Order: sequence, then C-alpha cells, then structure tokens
Amino acid sequence: MEKKDYKKEFCALMDRFAFRYSKWQIWNDFLSLSAISLANVMPVPEKEEREKLYLSIINSYQKEDQEVFPKMLELVVLALEENPEQDFLGSLYHHLGLHQEQKGQFFTPYHICHFMSELQFAGDEKEEQLKEKGYISVNDPACGAGAMLIAFANVAKKHGINYQKHVLFVAQDIDRTAAMMCYIQLSLLGCPAIVIIGDSLAKPFLHPNNEAWYTPFFYLNQWRFMPGQAGEERADGMDAGCGQDMIEAADSLLGSMKLLEGADGQLMLCMEQAS
Ligand SMILES: C[S@@+](CC[C@H](N)C(=O)[O-])C[C@H]1O[C@@H](n2cnc3c(N)ncnc32)[C@H](O)[C@@H]1O
Repeated sequence: MEKKDYKKEFCALMDRFAFRYSKWQIWNDFLSLSAISLANVMPVPEKEEREKLYLSIINSYQKEDQEVFPKMLELVVLALEENPEQDFLGSLYHHLGLHQEQKGQFFTPYHICHFMSELQFAGDEKEEQLKEKGYISVNDPACGAGAMLIAFANVAKKHGINYQKHVLFVAQDIDRTAAMMCYIQLSLLGCPAIVIIGDSLAKPFLHPNNEAWYTPFFYLNQWRFMPGQAGEERADGMDAGCGQDMIEAADSLLGSMKLLEGADGQLMLCMEQAS
C-alpha cells in the first residue's frame, strides 16, 4: 500500500487559504487553535481566557475556512501516530520556509536528536534516578518544535521506561510559535510536559513573566512529580492521588479524542478521522 504523504496533504490544505491570508498567519492561528483545543480538555485556570482567544481567532475566518483547521490537526495526529519518531511540525515549518533564522531557528535533524538521547541513557544513572524518585526529568531550554524531547521520549521507551508516566519533560522557548509546536507534539505523544514561553537566559522556567502550558498528560500524572510521591498504583489501575476533577477531565479527554493503546502498551491521543 502506498504511504500517505502527510506533509504534502498539510501543504495542500494550507493552499486553500492562498491569496487571502499569509502562510505565517495561517500557521500561527493553526498552532493557537490546536494548542487551545488540547489544553482546554483539562480544568485549567486559564481555560476561559483561552476559550475566548480560540473564538476570536476562529471567528475571524469564513465558515468554509474554519473547517480546514481541524483537518490540519488531524494530519498531525495521523503522521505522529504512524511514525512517532519524528519532529513533524518542525520539519514542516522548515519546509514552508517559516523558520526565523535571526532567532537561530534551525531545528536539529531527528536522527541527531535520537543519537544524543541515546548518549543520555548510557550507563545506569537513569535507572537509579527512576528507582529513587519514581521519575526522571529532561529539560530543553531552547526547545524549538521539541525534536530533542520527542527523541528522548522514544529512546526512554526503547529502554523500557514508560515516558507517559515516568518522565517529566520541561521545555522553554523565547518564541511563541516554536513553543506552540512543541506543546502540540508533546501533548499528542502523551508526554507529561510543561512548555514555557520566555527567555531561558533572563527568565528561566516558571518566572512570573512567563506563560506556561501544561500538557493533558502532565495533569494526569502531576502527583508523581511531587516530593515523596514515588508511589504505587491502586489495584483498580487508577493512580493513587489522582483527584476526582482529574478523573473527570480524563473522561472528557477520552470523550473528545480517542486514547488508543498500541501493542506495546503505549498510549496515543487520536481524533476521529473525518470522512
Ligand atoms: C537551534 S534551535 C534548536 C531547537 C531544538 N532544541 C532542536 O534541537 O531542534 C534554537 C531555539 O532556541 C530558541 N531561543 C533562542 N534564544 C532563546 C532564549 N534566550 N531563550 C529561549 N529560547 C531561545 C529559538 O527560538 C529556537 O527555537
């Protein structure tokens, strides 16, 4: 069977907006709408404010244009589902010529990221950390679209670590567009992650001036990353310490998007395919 070219299909969808909107505007609106859709499945304090932003963006388009954005997100989901070992949005961003060279936005080819992550797993330090704390953490303070972190997730999985539960991902980028790409990809791959928009030299991590986006899998696992919580799972499979609001949020998450389990037990956020 011929393999689908998701990048080509994505570009064809973007072409539908040609001559009316710039590629830059479509790309950024697509990222904001997608990131908000993913973030707002959880009961987060920013929910209402983000919903308003979502409506102001989507209502600036005609009805037939509005319908294109979910189709674009669907292609990202399908591409990552078929091959999670890639920086799909990062390479698309380069392919569309949207990367900003003045900000040093040259994203690392995926195979280099994979190699660098493998080096991180040399030795048994990670296993010891996992035993001691119950999780390991990884930080890319200049994350771009998240290629390094995606590779880390895949390499962790290869080394028998369920990154959806036992890895805390921290990402920061000074550029909103880059951070949004990273947020969407880490969310879809089921990474518990905090993605921060801000200058990691002047204002690192959760500085009050920075904007932070938490992935759905972060909320579902956050208790694991608290001191002294390297705990066990309950007999019913539900995590101890997982609050009722989080359980309800998980239900709504499952209602709007399907959680598919692969043969290896790894979960993936998926949307219903449009007919
Ligand atoms: C060379 S790219 C690397 C991206 C990613 N780590 C990768 O390997 O694909 C560098 C990224 O750093 C970001 N950046 C530059 N200066 C920064 C700063 N002071 N704080 C946070 N991010 C910064 C840029 O926006 C860009 O996305």
